Amino acid sequence: MQIHTSIAAFRSVRPSLGRVAFVPTMGNLHEGHITLMKQATEHADTIVASVFVNRLQFGPNEDFDHYPRTLESDCEKLERAGVAHVFAPREADMYPVAQTYHVDPAAEHITTLEGEFRAGHFRGVATVVMKLLNVVQPNVALFGKKDYQQLMVLSNMVRQFAMPIEILPGETVRAADGLALSSRNGYLSADERAEAPQLYKALTRLRDQLHAGARPLAELEREAMDVLRARNWEPDYISVRRREDLQPPASPDDPLVVLAAAKLGRTRLIDNLEI
Ligand code: PAF
Repeated sequence: MQIHTSIAAFRSVRPSLGRVAFVPTMGNLHEGHITLMKQATEHADTIVASVFVNRLQFGPNEDFDHYPRTLESDCEKLERAGVAHVFAPREADMYPVAQTYHVDPAAEHITTLEGEFRAGHFRGVATVVMKLLNVVQPNVALFGKKDYQQLMVLSNMVRQFAMPIEILPGETVRAADGLALSSRNGYLSADERAEAPQLYKALTRLRDQLHAGARPLAELEREAMDVLRARNWEPDYISVRRREDLQPPASPDDPLVVLAAAKLGRTRLIDNLEI
């Protein structure tokens, strides 16, 4: 496996790589990432992963400085997963000057759900992913459904800019007790880790209630948040949306997803479930 720490170094090998499947990450890899790498092997001969903690997508009060940087162990995992090339650029290489040009996703896609609580987050994600895609020039790129809104924003970006890249979703990987794997789970204390699967439980309960029918959506969403509050969570939202654009459902035929974000102690967890 080769590790490239500059855009120039990666560009020098790209012509020899043929069809490429690309998995962008911020490192601190867990089984969810590794599953995406393995999924990628079904779509191309060469798997490229990137490891870059992107300053642009962190808000002023978020954990950019403390975000775990674990490149050495990440590379060991990537190699075992069959990744051939890692693009791990230095900050000065990705942002040699302040990034003053940005990708601005549609307002209705980024002012709701995560966007309501993380102003500027998706602009930062879309900008770095545009840049990573320009460098790596993959044929396919894979993003996990765990970050459902990110996947929707990036799929739209690639479609609307006519980029010749297929975006593929990866299923969320869960621990045996249902907790979605996430780099942020590492911040949970032992007690919080035991409580954390309640977020997924809230989603499955809401799905079951919805399928049972008869009660208004808003009431189910409110009740799900109240259940978490009673267990000392601070929910930001639990909301049923259309899968396609994450707007409120408009017709009974809309395929739906329920999305949630809630703080447990100092750790903010997100999850979702297609229903
Ligand atoms: O999902 C992530 O890890 C990041 O948002 C991404 C897509 C690598 C962009 O920095």
